Amino acid sequence: MKRIVSPSVLSADFSDLKSECVMLNESAAEWVHIDVMDGVFVPNISFGFPVIEAIRKHCTKFMDVHIMIVHPEKYVQRFADAGARMLTFHYEAAEKPSEVIRLIREAGMMVGITINPDIPVEKLRPYIADVDMVLLMSVFAGYGGQKFIPESFNRIRELKGMIDELNPNCMIQIDGGVSDANAAELYACGANVLVAGSSVFNAPDPKAMIQRLLTME
Ligand code: DX5
Ligand code: ZN
Repeated sequence: MKRIVSPSVLSADFSDLKSECVMLNESAAEWVHIDVMDGVFVPNISFGFPVIEAIRKHCTKFMDVHIMIVHPEKYVQRFADAGARMLTFHYEAAEKPSEVIRLIREAGMMVGITINPDIPVEKLRPYIADVDMVLLMSVFAGYGGQKFIPESFNRIRELKGMIDELNPNCMIQIDGGVSDANAAELYACGANVLVAGSSVFNAPDPKAMIQRLLTME
């Protein structure tokens, strides 16, 4: 499956978001990853709709929005209106995941479902056929700059097996501690979309790092 790098703006310079968007526009990244945290589902608050709309204004890339919020069903339409093209919600945060999936589709977005590292991959089985992407968190959702959890490699292989069986077109995204030190192995395990926050935005040359993440062998 086609490789995609989705830089997470959580690690961008928010005092100069426009320049960060220009950098992304000039880069080989196809997507931009947008992390919304509510301080309830995760112990951190990031940003909301005005910031997403500001990114949409200046960034031409596909908006990949990862919501770490309770009651995801309440805000689906707002994210669509703000410019989200893919909306990924946490299985753990949804009372009725199938309902959230339906709402996201009805709002015209692609659907992603995600789990934290302590949730068995098997829990996603009932939803695989109905989503465009599964995001496996490789750190606990909440903060950028955390250390990659190595057990994630086994979890990706397990998920890849399930996806081959149930929905071979479903993408696998990895988020948390992704860098040029693990990208090649992540692809080898079956992931095709890599989220990268600190490794891209803290790199001396972010565009070169994006290119490197895309082409690691
Ligand atoms: C964490 C977020 C990530 C975060 C990744 O909860 O979902 O997208 O920005 O940051 P890095 O790549 O620095 O681990
Ligand atoms: Zn994320």
